Amino acid sequence: MEAKLTAIGIYAPEKVVDNHYFEQFIETSDEWIRSRTGIITRRFAAEKEFTSDLAEQAVRNMAAEYQLRLDDVDFILVATVTHDQIMPSMACQLQYRLGMPNAAALDISAACGGFGYGLVLAKGLINSGMYRKILVIGAETLTKVTDFTDRTSCILFGDGAGVVLIEAAEKGNIGACVAGADGSGGQDLYLSNQNTLINGEEILANNKIVQNGRKVFKWAVSQMSLQFNILLEKEGLSVEDIDWFVPHSANMRIIEAICKQVGLPVEKALESVSTYGNTSSASIPLALYEGVRAGKVRKGHKVMMLGFGGGLTYAGAIVEWA
Ligand code: COA
Repeated sequence: MEAKLTAIGIYAPEKVVDNHYFEQFIETSDEWIRSRTGIITRRFAAEKEFTSDLAEQAVRNMAAEYQLRLDDVDFILVATVTHDQIMPSMACQLQYRLGMPNAAALDISAACGGFGYGLVLAKGLINSGMYRKILVIGAETLTKVTDFTDRTSCILFGDGAGVVLIEAAEKGNIGACVAGADGSGGQDLYLSNQNTLINGEEILANNKIVQNGRKVFKWAVSQMSLQFNILLEKEGLSVEDIDWFVPHSANMRIIEAICKQVGLPVEKALESVSTYGNTSSASIPLALYEGVRAGKVRKGHKVMMLGFGGGLTYAGAIVEWA
């Protein structure tokens, strides 16, 4: 059997926060944030709203929209860096809350590359013949671990969740995959509450996202461009064959730079960063869902999803929309 992506759903918290909000407590401006990041708004989870709640609602929305039953799901993968708690996993909580008694449940810790890792793992689990119906979820409440005193990072992040259903089928639609890491950049983007070292370097143990924005920016552009071309080659496609490119939505300038590097018109990139901010593992399904809802992504289109993030990690796949 082959792996087929058959449904998609999203959920984002109600509270919309614009750039002017930040002008109240840090030295910044709407103009700076828009021009440096492309972000116009983002969503903030409520105080008592957590990653598992967002993920649950995304799955419920997908199930309602596609008239799906969930009780025969046999694997749940949840990509997140903002678990409600480390143990139990988000996947276990959802397995119970959504009534999936026969599902194996596992969280993926690959930061903004996590959703891409989920696609790759789901394809492998289905191709192995061991599983038939898998949920791949990316869900985050990044604003709970945002350092609102750091003006270079606090303006970037938002909260949201997305999910895709991947099923066993005679003819699948998930083609070439990539997944990899560059652990040497671990100290450039991290979230820790323990006084440890990363690659021998001391870190800030404040349980907030800490990043070296410029280094991550440069690495993302060069690594994403490289992986874009590797995916094309694996699938035997040229850049003109890609209908939609859905990279992790961290910053519009990163997306524009990748498109320029690989020779793809930026109009062919789907993004979620302008309205949702950087939502880490949720950013790809949010962008893809909006593209589907807007009637842009249609049956037969070749869609390349490619994530990157803390670790450093990257992963993605080419899907022919069904
Ligand atoms: N408002 C106004 N000015 C700001 C600012 C803010 N919110 N944040 C930083 N600045 C200032 C800096 O202090 C700097 O001033 P200086 O030149 O006087 O020192 C200037 O703006 C430029 O800073 P720089 O860091 O070079 O900006 P940048 O163009 O690289 O943009 C990021 C900063 C963080 C937006 C950008 O580096 C980025 O997006 N990096 C990738 C981050 C990311 O995606 N992380 C997650 C990956 S999954």
